[in-house]
Amino acid sequence: MLLHLAVWPEVEEYLKTSSAIIVPIGSTEQHGPNGLIGTDAICPTAIAHEMARRITVLIGPTLSVGMAQHHLGFPGTIALRPSTLLALVGDVIESLLRHGFTHVYFLNGHGGNVATINTAFSEVWSSASFAGRDGAAPRLKLRNWWMGPAVRALSEELFGDAEGSHATPAEVSLSWYAHPEAVKTVSMSPEQADTGPIRDAADYRRSFPDGRIGSNPGLASVEYGQRILAAAVDDTLADFTAFTEST
Ligand code: NI
Repeated sequence: MLLHLAVWPEVEEYLKTSSAIIVPIGSTEQHGPNGLIGTDAICPTAIAHEMARRITVLIGPTLSVGMAQHHLGFPGTIALRPSTLLALVGDVIESLLRHGFTHVYFLNGHGGNVATINTAFSEVWSSASFAGRDGAAPRLKLRNWWMGPAVRALSEELFGDAEGSHATPAEVSLSWYAHPEAVKTVSMSPEQADTGPIRDAADYRRSFPDGRIGSNPGLASVEYGQRILAAAVDDTLADFTAFTEST
């Protein structure tokens, strides 16, 4: 069930048998010459929505902007400061806890969000600790969709080290599978981008002039995207099931 297409009595009913929710979270940022700006939100959304077709689970609204300050040198990027994202994630969690959700699972599509999401979890748990609350701790989990074993094995098989770390052929393929109407055909020069550290926006654009890091998304295809989605759904179903069964 998708939260944004549900009515409140359905959510109340759902809570009688389950208190877990998946919240896709991503970013709105440049993804190189052929990767869609919505890639990091599109990928976890596609995975979560496919999961909802396979099991009974509630999927929250995709949080589609993230901590992407380093991409602001490229037009179209919309970024939240870490402090803004921290407040956003914290308020989403607190809203859900108020309704009786006990397990909140963030399915993440953007590496830049990781530190802040984990900090938001610490803030929620800190509030309980300082208040001396005695009840069960909220179960909160961050899962990066591209880190599952099936996805990693498939990316390695299809792309090897051309997967890189930003604007990767795996994520571009998956986003194209979800939105074939938006596929772009662009030649890459150089074929595989350089790697290096991420700092601020101007530095990023100087170091990575077309936006990619270490990747060759020229290898992306809709067909690969279908396989990557299937692998990601398998990975995430296993991980989510283990999470909801944890006490
Ligand atoms: Ni990405």
